[in-house]
Amino acid sequence: SKGAALVTAVAQRLASRKRQVDETLAPFKLSQEQLQLVKATMRAGLEAGLKNKGPSAVKMLPSYVYHTPDGTERGKYLALDLGGTNFRAMLVKFKKGLQNNTRLYHKIYTVPLEIMQGTGEELFDHLAQYVSDFLDYMGMKKAHLPAGFTFSFPCEQTAIDTGILVSWTKGFKATDCEGHDVVNLLREAIKRRNEYDLDIVAVVNDTVGTMMSCAYEDPQCEVGLIAGTGSNACYMEELKNIEKIRQKKQKTEGDEETPEAVEDKDDGSKGDKKAETSETSKMCINTEWGGLGDDGSLDDIITPFDAEVDHNSVNPGKQRFEKLTSGMYLGEIVREVLLDLTRGGLLFRGRVTETLKTPGIFQTKYLSQIESDRLALLQVRSILQHLGLDSTCDDSIIVKEVCGAVSRRAAELCGAGMAAVVDKIRENRGLDHLNITVGVDGALYKLHPHFSGVLQETTRVLAPQCNVTFLPSEEGSGKGAALITAVARQKRDR
Ligand code: GLC
Repeated sequence: SKGAALVTAVAQRLASRKRQVDETLAPFKLSQEQLQLVKATMRAGLEAGLKNKGPSAVKMLPSYVYHTPDGTERGKYLALDLGGTNFRAMLVKFKKGLQNNTRLYHKIYTVPLEIMQGTGEELFDHLAQYVSDFLDYMGMKKAHLPAGFTFSFPCEQTAIDTGILVSWTKGFKATDCEGHDVVNLLREAIKRRNEYDLDIVAVVNDTVGTMMSCAYEDPQCEVGLIAGTGSNACYMEELKNIEKIRQKKQKTEGDEETPEAVEDKDDGSKGDKKAETSETSKMCINTEWGGLGDDGSLDDIITPFDAEVDHNSVNPGKQRFEKLTSGMYLGEIVREVLLDLTRGGLLFRGRVTETLKTPGIFQTKYLSQIESDRLALLQVRSILQHLGLDSTCDDSIIVKEVCGAVSRRAAELCGAGMAAVVDKIRENRGLDHLNITVGVDGALYKLHPHFSGVLQETTRVLAPQCNVTFLPSEEGSGKGAALITAVARQKRDR
C-alpha cells in the first residue's frame, strides 16, 4: 500500500542520514592502536624535549621548582594569575599549625580582548592596575608583599623568577612580549605606576601551581594537569635527565641556582620503592604538551575539521595537540562539523545561518550542558535555540552526537598523553608499579559531564602498571604560586 511505502521511504531516509553522520564522525573515533600510538608519540616528544638539541614540538621547560611543599610554608603572599581571559589577584595566608590552614582572598578581573591582542605595554599596564585595585580593596597598598606570578604560557626559565615568553598560546597575541622576561615586563609596569611596591619572587606555570597546591594535601602528587581553555601537564623529572639543566650546571659550577638535595618526602605508599630508587634531586618540568604534533607527528589523526580550526586560529600550525584537546577549540571543531553536516543537508534543514558561521558560539559550558545525560532532548533544543540555532528533534540528537565524539576524543588523547607521562615517571624510578596522584584543574575537567571519566579510563588502560589518582585542585594555581613563592623566599633569605 501507499502508506507502507511512505513509512519505508522515511525509514530509509533516516537510516541514510544516520549513516552519513556516522561516516562524518568516524575519523573522531580512535582505535586502541591509534591511542597507543599517540602515547608513544607523546613519549618520544617528552624525550626529545629533554635533550638539548634546539627547539622541539614538546618544549619541556624547566620550572626551577625542586620539590613539592612540605607543609612548613608560612606567611602572607600575593598570587597573581594570568591564564585565560581572566586575571586573578589573590592574597594567600599560610598559618602555623595544621597543614590545611590556608586563607585566601581574591578578586577576578576580565582582560578585554583588545588588551589581550594589543601592545605588551598596555597589557602589563592593565595587570599593574588590577593589582593596584586589589591592594586597595585589601587595604594593603603599603605592604610590599612577596608575590608569585602564575603566567600560563610557555616560558623559558633560567631561574625561579625569570621567564622569557617563548610564544603566546590560547588566543593571546600582545606585541613585544615574545622573547621578553615577563617578570621584568610586570616589574616595569609597576614602576611606571610608581604607586606601590611588589617583590616578585617566582613565575609559575598553572600546571606547576596546580601540582604544588595538590601536593600540599597529598604528597603522592607529582604531576599537574590543566584541561581547560588550554591543555598542558607538568611532572617531577630526575635532574640527571634534563640535559639543558645539566649542561648549564656544568658551565656555572657553584652557581647559586645549583639545586640543593631534595629531602625525600615519605609518601607512605607501600610497595613503591621510591625512597630507595629515586634520585636526590628532581625538578618539575612544564611539558607544554599542547605543542605535540607541531612537527607533523599527529597528522594521521588530524581531521579536515581540525585543520580548518587550526587554519582559522591566531597561531596556525602551532599547538596542534592543544587544538584537539582543550576547551578553547572543542566548540570550534563541533561548529565545523555542524557546518559540514548542514551543507550536506543533514542538519538544520540544510540552512547555514549566520549564527552557525560565528566563531566561538559553542563555549565549554554549552558543550557540557548539551552532553549532560540528565538533560532531555527538549532541553538540548532549547540550548540550541538560545544560541540562535533552530533545530528539530532529530537535529538535537545529531548535535549531541557530534559534541560527544569531539569531547570523547579530547579526553582519550589527554589520557594517552597522561599515560606517557606516568609511565615515564615509573620507568625513571625503575618500578614495576607506580602509585601516583595527578593534581588537575580546568573547566573541561571540572564541568564537563564525561571528560574526566573518559580521561581516567583511558589512562588506566594505556598505563596498566600505574595506579593514577586524579585530584581536582581547589584554588589550584594561585595557592600553588604562593607556595612556590614561600619556598623560593625562604631559600633566598636563608
Ligand atoms: C597553554 C599554555 C600552557 C598552559 C596551558 C593551560 O597550553 O601554553 O602554558 O599551561 O595552556 O592553561
